[in-house]
Amino acid sequence: MADDLTTNAQALVAPGRGVLAADESTATIGKRFASVGVESTEENRRAYRDTLFTTPGLAEAISGVIMYDETIRQSTSDGTPFPELLKSLGIQAGIKVDTGAKDLAKAPGEKITEGLDGLRERIAEYVELGATFAKWRAVITIAEGGLPSRYCIETNAHALARYAALCQEGGLVPIVEPEVLMDGDHSIERCFEVTELTQHLVFDALAAQRVSFEEMVLKPNMVISGKGNDRQAGVEEVAEQTLRCLRRTVPAAVPGIAFLSGGQSAEVATEHLNAMNTMGPHPWVLTFSYGRALQDAALEAWKGEASNREASQHALSEAARANSDATSGSYRSAA
Ligand code: 13P
Repeated sequence: MADDLTTNAQALVAPGRGVLAADESTATIGKRFASVGVESTEENRRAYRDTLFTTPGLAEAISGVIMYDETIRQSTSDGTPFPELLKSLGIQAGIKVDTGAKDLAKAPGEKITEGLDGLRERIAEYVELGATFAKWRAVITIAEGGLPSRYCIETNAHALARYAALCQEGGLVPIVEPEVLMDGDHSIERCFEVTELTQHLVFDALAAQRVSFEEMVLKPNMVISGKGNDRQAGVEEVAEQTLRCLRRTVPAAVPGIAFLSGGQSAEVATEHLNAMNTMGPHPWVLTFSYGRALQDAALEAWKGEASNREASQHALSEAARANSDATSGSYRSAA
């Protein structure tokens, strides 16, 4: 019998808690490891996730952990499967089920996320392994020449909705992640326009494919200046524009919105979330589902050495605590 999806969706965004995205594919974690001089072996990948997931007090700020296919099958050093460990801590086990963004046919420079073939069967297996929620990330690129095309957004929205419907049918809460990338020199106004259209088309597709809004979590980008833009919008402006966009596009039936960090620094990602939560009340909970913004300092501290385990866990705890504070607008920068 599947868990109650509404209850699980609400628990993912429970007060003071958010999601740790630790679902880097083997290729992506390889790049992260290379940046700190660690070889990407299966044992190193296991040891790193072991370090993160056994952080003392993790459950105070973390409601769920998203894993990659390899990770959900791995265990702690004493042999406890990761999903079992997380469950015992009161943390939901999540799984990335997309198989990555590939070139979209007849759309140079644009991507389509794959992974629908056989998804019903894979979901059934992940439920057996202890997963209660899933993630699928669509990637939308802003660039010269009118990108993104409506074709790219619609195609990705359709795939996100097919994924979400299959998840709900199979007993997983879908995290629906349409990410408008911050790469490029576009303005915050252009990011707003593209993010608004993307979210409209995603919710259209979700409704058309009978996805229950109560049983999902949205994982969007914030409305932010392109990395290369001359005018970098400040914290207040990003918070205001992100909220203005979400109010136009996200039904109040959605229990929560858990932002991605998308390449923002850990500090800035936390400040943005905090600012939005000082501007409430909002119809939905606003929390985090950060990868890099939660892990950067922890990975830097770990460096592949068992002796750095505590320092790494301390760094993750600090980042998680800061973002937990940001969910109530009570974060105060140490600087
Ligand atoms: P970042 O917070 O590093 O963007 O990762 C979140 C995520 O899950 C991207 O799919």
